[in-house]
Amino acid sequence: MASQIWLIFFVTVTYSLIFRDTLAADSNDIKTYIVYMGDLPKGDLSVASLHSNMLQKVVGSRASTSLLRSYKRSFNGFAAKLTEDEKNRIARMEGVVSVFPSKIMELHTTRSWDFMGFPQDVKRAPLESDVIVGMLDTGAWPEADSFNDDGFGPPPSKWKGSCDSTNFTCNNKLIGAKYYRTDQRAVVGNLSARDTEGHGTHTASTVGGRAVNNASLFGFANGTARGGVPSARIAVYKICWPGGCSEADILAAFDDAIADGVDIISLSVGSPFASDYFEDSIAIGAFHSMKNGVLTSNSAGNSGPIPGSVANYSPWSLTVAASTIDRKFMTQIVLGNNETYEGPAINTFEPAIHPIVYGSTCEPGSLDPTLVKNKIVICGSTEGPSTALEAGASGAVIVGDFGFEDLAFSWPLPATYLNDTDGSAVESYMNSTTTPSASILKSIQPVDKAAPAVVSFSSRGPNPITSDILKPDLTAPGVDIIAAWSLDTTVTGEEGDTRVVPFNIISGTSMSCPHASGAAAYVKSFHPTWSPAAIKSALMTTAATMSPTKNLDVEFAYGSGHIDPLKAIDPGLIYDAGEPDFVSFLCGQGYNATNLKIVTGDTSSCSAGNNATVWDLNYPSFALSGQQAGSSIVRTFNRTVTNVGASESTYQATVVAPSGLVVKVNPTSLAFKAAGEKQSFVVTVDATIGSTTLSGSLVWSDGVHNVTSPIVAFQN
Ligand SMILES: *[C@@H]1O[C@H](CO)[C@@H](O)[C@H](O)[C@H]1NC(C)=O
Ligand SMILES: *[C@@H]1O[C@H](CO)[C@@H](O)[C@H](O)[C@H]1NC(C)=O
Ligand SMILES: *[C@@H]1O[C@H](CO)[C@@H](O)[C@H](O)[C@H]1NC(C)=O
Ligand SMILES: *[C@@H]1O[C@H](CO)[C@@H](O)[C@H](O)[C@H]1NC(C)=O
Ligand SMILES: *[C@@H]1O[C@H](CO)[C@@H](O)[C@H](O)[C@H]1NC(C)=O
Ligand SMILES: *[C@@H]1O[C@H](CO)[C@@H](O)[C@H](O)[C@H]1NC(C)=O
Ligand SMILES: *[C@@H]1O[C@H](CO)[C@@H](O)[C@H](O)[C@H]1NC(C)=O
Ligand SMILES: *[C@@H]1O[C@H](CO)[C@@H](O)[C@H](O)[C@H]1NC(C)=O
Ligand SMILES: *[C@@H]1O[C@H](CO)[C@@H](O)[C@H](O)[C@H]1NC(C)=O
Ligand SMILES: *[C@@H]1O[C@H](CO)[C@@H](O)[C@H](O)[C@H]1NC(C)=O
Ligand SMILES: *[C@@H]1O[C@H](CO)[C@@H](O)[C@H](O)[C@H]1NC(C)=O
Repeated sequence: MASQIWLIFFVTVTYSLIFRDTLAADSNDIKTYIVYMGDLPKGDLSVASLHSNMLQKVVGSRASTSLLRSYKRSFNGFAAKLTEDEKNRIARMEGVVSVFPSKIMELHTTRSWDFMGFPQDVKRAPLESDVIVGMLDTGAWPEADSFNDDGFGPPPSKWKGSCDSTNFTCNNKLIGAKYYRTDQRAVVGNLSARDTEGHGTHTASTVGGRAVNNASLFGFANGTARGGVPSARIAVYKICWPGGCSEADILAAFDDAIADGVDIISLSVGSPFASDYFEDSIAIGAFHSMKNGVLTSNSAGNSGPIPGSVANYSPWSLTVAASTIDRKFMTQIVLGNNETYEGPAINTFEPAIHPIVYGSTCEPGSLDPTLVKNKIVICGSTEGPSTALEAGASGAVIVGDFGFEDLAFSWPLPATYLNDTDGSAVESYMNSTTTPSASILKSIQPVDKAAPAVVSFSSRGPNPITSDILKPDLTAPGVDIIAAWSLDTTVTGEEGDTRVVPFNIISGTSMSCPHASGAAAYVKSFHPTWSPAAIKSALMTTAATMSPTKNLDVEFAYGSGHIDPLKAIDPGLIYDAGEPDFVSFLCGQGYNATNLKIVTGDTSSCSAGNNATVWDLNYPSFALSGQQAGSSIVRTFNRTVTNVGASESTYQATVVAPSGLVVKVNPTSLAFKAAGEKQSFVVTVDATIGSTTLSGSLVWSDGVHNVTSPIVAFQN
């Protein structure tokens, strides 16, 4: 069923935007193009009339219907419906940096904060309520208790945004709402920033939902639901609809969010296909946000565990993997002979005994309703539960090895999941009797002693474009997370599901990203002047070490480690970087003037003095790759740290390196006399490249802070 595919995508593969090819190339086809013109011009020029004049020259009287959107608040450009020929003519006009088709993309408890060592009574900055987080997602359910503004004062004066949506009332908590729908995509109900899918409500409440007592999904995951920064303000920018998210809208939302005055942008969307930074609207939008002091926090994608599957890998944004928390959901099936088997699934339905039958693969439409009605059906595919429900079954068991043993899905009817071993045991029982029966119980919530571990679906490094920038940057909880939900949908959003709920439990790097966005907002509330790179550095160098035995793909699964928001407000030292550093990095990557301008939007250019190797970008982690196993590679990394701890402090370097990795640090001691003082050092790594990744680390310690960076050498 389409709806089943939606579930798999939205929940496990959530937030991977799938680029769908635009229509077949016919020069008369009219498509949506983004005409990108870089930074806003200086002076009083009316940018919007400039855009319509440009269009008029090319499309004549069609200009008013052709122009879909003007970007005029944070950068310059527009989206328009054009033929191939018109596109080519516009591309030659003065001021146009590039013209590219707008691709349509699909979407990639509260125990989780406690699990991160971040209890409800954690210390708070007095000005947390001045922090604004922009959510680029499916909108929000404004009436959710998580967005109640009791006790909130008016938004901070820097807020320039608005509540620009029908059927949507903002308040002093949820201070802004806008929606974007440049390309025709399905709409449920009327056009509005109101969330009809649940996803945006879930992510926004994870970042900044206020505390809501007694939250649960039918009693599961019960407790107080809360976001990372319960006093912060939220602004929603709805860019995703049931038909997907379009690049034209993503850029429009960046344009607005930056100008509206948000402090952090949270974007759980990305492409499973690698493209260079100058061809990636999210990387381009995030570069503008970085230039304006706004960190973009991104999901790593749900295409794991394939190596190199990570999305959103630009060095100026934060890339977040997803890991487990210490609670899991298992659902048991009790057979007529009292044997019990269990597998990961969330089942909220009351148990009942029913006959049990085979349904084979249970492809859509394949089940005979007269044979399966009121029975539990054994299915060899994840389409099983939907197909079974449609045919009138009362339960389903999915049997097979589908690679999601480490997370639990909800299904639209009583269902569980069994591996092949347990599935054959059920089959033996069915063969042993003429009246096989079973009952699927409500879920149990055992403690997951293996947590945290990066979940299988979380996309993995290495970075597909710049292998020597380690990605993902860190990991955060993204498995079986409870948060607020939209009342315009159901638990699964699937046909036949009637369970409308205010809180839901779902998984994805979409869910881990807002934990990191909330943590970034928390850091920002203590350090309002810190740059995006500084906040990111604080989160990375304080992250907790993850176990290399639970994730054999080590740093490519978890980056610097498991996020620790409380430690991140006091990192001791930070690895800072600003636009010039990223420009220098792009120059070193061989960017020519054209490509550079697409990313930066400004007049930055490359020269001999502005041309750093990837190893010299002041990044808080270290990576080097070689192509040939057995070869020895020596790399020199120049780094500069800024003291943000006690004014007088001395840090000593400690290196941990496995055999095959020789790391030298010079100097090995850094003495600071003042807050804000910078000191440089050089790390030389001599690595014998092998088929397994070599993982080491550098820790700068003053006895109070450990400033930790992974050092990774690998064969690419
Ligand atoms: C507002 O949204 C609610 C929830 O989707 C819907 O039931 C109602 O009809 C909408 N009202 C208008 C005027 O669009
Ligand atoms: C759409 O808006 C109209 C008028 O504002 C309202 O009557 C109707 O209920 C809305 N429909 C939905 C599905 O929200
Ligand atoms: C908690 O929520 C459950 C159902 O969601 C409800 O039955 C119960 O009365 C609530 N308890 C309190 C103390 O509010
Ligand atoms: C969840 O509900 C159970 C059963 O009602 C109760 O014992 C437990 O204390 C609740 N947990 C929280 C965190 O409220
Ligand atoms: C299964 O367990 C129930 C309750 O303990 C018992 O009444 C029943 O006889 C058992 N059935 C079999 C086949 O052992
Ligand atoms: C099958 O699942 C059961 C229950 O989760 C587990 O104990 C068993 O080890 C699994 N078997 C295999 C071969 O994975
Ligand atoms: C159950 O019976 C079917 C058909 O008779 C047979 O193909 C299958 O191997 C049997 N399974 C087990 C586990 O005995
Ligand atoms: C810049 O590089 C891109 C691809 O990397 C290439 O398509 C383009 O022609 C180059 N432009 C110039 C002016 O060299
Ligand atoms: C930057 O450095 C690379 C490699 O060292 C070199 O090939 C390139 O010409 C340099 N570019 C500029 C603008 O100096
Ligand atoms: C890196 O550091 C070394 C030693 O301090 C210095 O000689 C070199 O110029 C630096 N390189 C860059 C690109 O800054
Ligand atoms: C720093 O790391 C050392 C060695 O792992 C550890 O003993 C110490 O407790 C850590 N200090 C802090 C403040 O985390």
